[in-house]
Amino acid sequence: MPVRLSLLNTMHRMNDHSNSISITIELLEKIKQQYCLKWYGTHGVIHWSRVYENGIKLAEQDGVNSNVVQFFSIFHDSRRRNESTDNNHGNRGAQLALEMRAGITLSDEDFSLLIIACRLHTSARTHHDITVQACFDSDRLDLGRVGTMPDAEFLCTPMAKMPDIIEWGYNRSLIHRLPDQPFGLSMYKDRVIRLDGI
Ligand SMILES: [Fe+2]
Repeated sequence: MPVRLSLLNTMHRMNDHSNSISITIELLEKIKQQYCLKWYGTHGVIHWSRVYENGIKLAEQDGVNSNVVQFFSIFHDSRRRNESTDNNHGNRGAQLALEMRAGITLSDEDFSLLIIACRLHTSARTHHDITVQACFDSDRLDLGRVGTMPDAEFLCTPMAKMPDIIEWGYNRSLIHRLPDQPFGLSMYKDRVIRLDGI
């Protein structure tokens, strides 16, 4: 994973389906300005950064759109109102993505997958589209932070169901720390940290 992320940081943004960097610090700052929970809380930026890394890993599977799963990581919990049960937060996260559409470098078709994934990520067990599945899995592989071992039965893609991937996600989920290269934005880590003060 570190090698892959290092390579990502040498790449320029491309609007194709490769593992290019999609998230900008400006986009993250705008999301933070409206986020009403603790930045480093259970569903905050540390969780998002791990969901991002999980999504990048799962995007190695054929058919998974890496750019969609990257944007999913920062929008899916962006409008949570509490750290426990918040049944409508997926819809609200999708609404924020709609409001910020101009800053999201996805085609209309791919953007629709992001909206579906945000809306359904807690209410649907799976979905017919593998990119939406990878979004669900990237979130569910981080359940260890709330004391839950991810269960293959509730994961969607073949890679996420693999025992070593579940263990990889679980072990990382126990470490409450921002990774060195959050969202592929290694040069902006200090700014990501300072967002805590907004
Ligand atoms: Fe989440």
